[in-house]
Amino acid sequence: MKELKWWQKAVFYQIYPRSFADGNGDGIGDFKGMIEKLDYLQELGIDAVWLSPHFPSPFVDCGYDISDYENVAPEYGTLDDFRRFLVGAHRRNIRVILDLVLNHTSDQHAWFLESRSSRTNPRRDWYIWRDPKPDGSPPNNWLSTFDGPAWEYDKLTGQYYYHYFFRQQPDLNWRNPEVKEAMFHSVRFWLDMGVDGFRLDAIGTIFEDHAFPNQPLDMTYLELRRLTRTAYTPEEQKEAGRVWDTIFQYQLEQPGIHELMQELRMVMDEYGPGERVLVAENDNIAYHGNGSNELHMVFNFPLMQTSRITPAHVLANQRTRLAALAAVSPGAWPCNTLSNHDTPRMVSHFGDGQHDNELARLHLALLLTLKGTPFLYNGDEIGMRNLRLTDISQFRDSMATWLYHMEVEQFGVDPAEALKNAAGFTRDQGRSPMQWSNTPNAGFCPEEVQPWLPVNPDYASGVNAADQIGNSESLLHFCRRFLHLRRKTPALVEGEYLPLDAGNEDCLAFLRCTESQACLAALNFSGKPFTLDFTKAAALKDYHTARVLFPGGQVLPVIRFDVPAWGILVTEVK
Ligand code: NOJ
Repeated sequence: MKELKWWQKAVFYQIYPRSFADGNGDGIGDFKGMIEKLDYLQELGIDAVWLSPHFPSPFVDCGYDISDYENVAPEYGTLDDFRRFLVGAHRRNIRVILDLVLNHTSDQHAWFLESRSSRTNPRRDWYIWRDPKPDGSPPNNWLSTFDGPAWEYDKLTGQYYYHYFFRQQPDLNWRNPEVKEAMFHSVRFWLDMGVDGFRLDAIGTIFEDHAFPNQPLDMTYLELRRLTRTAYTPEEQKEAGRVWDTIFQYQLEQPGIHELMQELRMVMDEYGPGERVLVAENDNIAYHGNGSNELHMVFNFPLMQTSRITPAHVLANQRTRLAALAAVSPGAWPCNTLSNHDTPRMVSHFGDGQHDNELARLHLALLLTLKGTPFLYNGDEIGMRNLRLTDISQFRDSMATWLYHMEVEQFGVDPAEALKNAAGFTRDQGRSPMQWSNTPNAGFCPEEVQPWLPVNPDYASGVNAADQIGNSESLLHFCRRFLHLRRKTPALVEGEYLPLDAGNEDCLAFLRCTESQACLAALNFSGKPFTLDFTKAAALKDYHTARVLFPGGQVLPVIRFDVPAWGILVTEVK
């Protein structure tokens, strides 16, 4: 077997800089704080960090609206602070990848300020400008995914500009080669500094159908949002997905994108093939290209697109996902995650309210035993939950505040009802400050300072790092033990995945095998204990004993074992 690259063996940990660690005590996370927490990350046992945007930004979209691609947001520190963070991480064998937002800039970026200044400005064509229709209305009926129509009228020059996300995030015109040149300059800027790769934001939105045809559905943005927000059953979700795909059919996954990704890959490969990694915020395996000419990884989002993680869901997901990857190329490597800054917290999303602690362990164990590179989200290791906001002034996610104001002001929805809608919908739920200790503001920032988003009050009941460090039975210790186990068990990192029939629908069992090691993982997603008997299983006919690696200890003379309620068992079979 070919030696795996670092990013295939690594466990990634996403840091949301604004909420991770506040080093200067102003209520906002920063590089000083991140540097202070590097030892924590090393002890946790992760191998790489994905840093959500750390660039200067007006923060209309929490940093995904960038106003300078080659600098650091002043509230996070300076370029020197960033360098210190990078050096400190590398010294601890932790790689660092950045968030690369190619589709759009902030409307405060110098490029856009120039572009909007006149129709003849040399940067005019760096963005997408179109004339109004004769009646003054937008060039077509496209919607933005965040805030109403996709076109914003600019009085100064009498044209509309296009934005797929907020109106403060104008789309770049990637058909203009100067845009590519400028962006690749920034890519090299960070690679030259030593960063280990990028998570690519929203690549599916980079190109639009350049004939700009109308889409066929007559639906307002608010109607669309309501439809997706209230799609609960699988049928409703399917229907909402169909409507979504129809409405955005000319704005997503358009021709040109694969060629662009190939060019970007060539830039990465200048730094040594496979040394700097690209991972896409996209689950389309077509982005693997021929297996070596586009992206290294794309997220397996379908794994988390369910309300409950069940063995049947995981088995079906792995069956289709791994087969599809294998069809692209034997080298196309999986990448699994169950949460990020756009989703609810893992515990809140997949918990049942009664066994959240047990389920949190099962979900982490699942991510760390499936084949592929796992991505954890900061705070999941201590079981952080969704933050419930109770006042609209506390919201920072403009998607939710926009929706709230539209509902109340334009559609007369009762404010309490609109608040409830926004609170259940906002991405703020999963972005609250990291809970470091059981002291006011969870040790994120000083007591007298108001953090940028409220701290979840559950820090006082054990959901904080310090308390968990002091308790060997905590989720944090579980996570550390599991990360350690994974690191020293080659089959869990490199092994092929082979599903096993556990004989009941609540238990998930599978093998991970290399030529020299085979591990059997069994995860019991129920409150009933089971005996799993593989003594007659065809897949295990060459194996006769099992050494328990987790929770640890004994060697079993046969491959038959008891899995307790909500139990997690990893054994090495021989
Ligand atoms: C995806 C990011 O994850 C999300 O947070 C952001 O709002 C959009 N892309 C726009 O950049």
